[in-house]
Amino acid sequence: MGDYIGALDLGTTSNRFIVFDRRGRIVGSAQKEHEQIFPRPGWVEHNPVEIWENTGDVMRGALSKTGLKGSDIEAVGITNQRETTLVWDSRTGKPYMNAIVWQDTRTDEMCNRLAENGGQNRFREKTGLPLSTYFAGPKLRWILDNCQPARKGAQKGQAMFGTVESWVIWWLTGGPGGGSHVTDVSNASRTMLMNLETLSWDEQILNAFNIPESILPRIVPSIDSDTWGTTRKDGPLGAEVPVCGALGDQQAALVGQACFEVGEAKNTYGTGCFLLLNTGTEAVASRHGMLTTVAYQVRGEKPVYCLEGSIAVAGALVQWLRDNLKFIEHAAEIEPLARSVADNGGAYIVPAFSGLFAPYWRSDARGVIVGLTRFIKRGHIARAVLEAVAYQTLDVAEAMEKDSGVKMDNLKVDGGMVVNELLMQFQADILGIPVVRPKITETTALGAASAAALASGFASGIGELKENWALDKTWQPQMSEEQRKKDVKNWKKAVDRTLNWID
Ligand code: G3P
Repeated sequence: MGDYIGALDLGTTSNRFIVFDRRGRIVGSAQKEHEQIFPRPGWVEHNPVEIWENTGDVMRGALSKTGLKGSDIEAVGITNQRETTLVWDSRTGKPYMNAIVWQDTRTDEMCNRLAENGGQNRFREKTGLPLSTYFAGPKLRWILDNCQPARKGAQKGQAMFGTVESWVIWWLTGGPGGGSHVTDVSNASRTMLMNLETLSWDEQILNAFNIPESILPRIVPSIDSDTWGTTRKDGPLGAEVPVCGALGDQQAALVGQACFEVGEAKNTYGTGCFLLLNTGTEAVASRHGMLTTVAYQVRGEKPVYCLEGSIAVAGALVQWLRDNLKFIEHAAEIEPLARSVADNGGAYIVPAFSGLFAPYWRSDARGVIVGLTRFIKRGHIARAVLEAVAYQTLDVAEAMEKDSGVKMDNLKVDGGMVVNELLMQFQADILGIPVVRPKITETTALGAASAAALASGFASGIGELKENWALDKTWQPQMSEEQRKKDVKNWKKAVDRTLNWID
């Protein structure tokens, strides 16, 4: 029996393989970024071959860094950027085209057309999701409509659709001729094609999207003692290791934060920002722009659901400032720059780069910077960038409270941006509640490792995972109520300015 669990974290900007020990501590890891391809305004793509090749590299890299052998790994768990859509040829493993990334808005018109019959919430009752460019179903339809070889492959039963975890599990477990074509329920719940109650593909919705069921993967529990196969001896681990846990990255963070009880919530600051609230075995319908989605499912048990507030752009705004505007050289420079001024100087940025997600769901929105005067310096813009992340979280938290009727008494946070102390303090100020950071902020990878640990019997149960959660730091709100109200009012005005930009 191996003494370690391997977690593959297949994110929007990079892939990582992280090795955890029995106490949930990180033993070693390797990471590789992949290219962000922007062929047109609003379009975002990834190269699936690069994603798979980098996956192999980081697995080999982490083993060589830690000095471990593949056989030291007891099981592999996977977590991934959700909704990103791939279609490949099952005979060769060749993708028909680049993956369409979750932030991509090319399906805008298609979604509007579909909404003409039944409105934006046409499929919400069954899927928990509003019609939006965000989800995988419309992206898959776009590929089948616009990439002839993919449509032909689908007609001949040779094409396979998957989100990133499906793609990588298929390769890991054998690829052409042998790989498992599966998707876990948490990822499947983001396609807009799965019925939330039955956890199976919905025939009526497939018809509405003109998607043949034969192209879709088998839906499996996230924590699956049946396993989906083993890694190949001639693969990156050089050993046969069971692949048995998979979760969308936000659901993985919920597990990694040990939010196993009804009413527990976390907010992850990554490329985007995602607030998830555990609602237990009941799928709670949202009336305030939240998504109803599957948190996780253990084989043989009822699924656990959550409400989610999705924000498309958080860390991506800092990257945009760095890469597109060359405003800073390294992402970490944003905090000292923001600290060089006392406040935002009246400037607000709303990064509606992919339209606005929760709670607005407006694909016609585009980003704005408002409140500019000659007083504004780089520091004010840096501050407005960080504040935008906190204000967007406020919008989502308010809507979440209305939906759930539960007043949050604190917010558990994780993800890359939580090292930013200025942001964390501002977040506590603007929410008016304490913000709580755990010792392990790699909660996404930890969640994937936990899924594999539970599925393989490496971990005894959820109780063991809860014990591993430890507090690092709490930020208390310090801002006056008067100031808070004034700032929030300005933010709402700025949000209004983004709407109706696209006709
Ligand atoms: O739904 C998209 C989400 O899974 C992407 O997560 O970590 O890249 O912000 P992240």
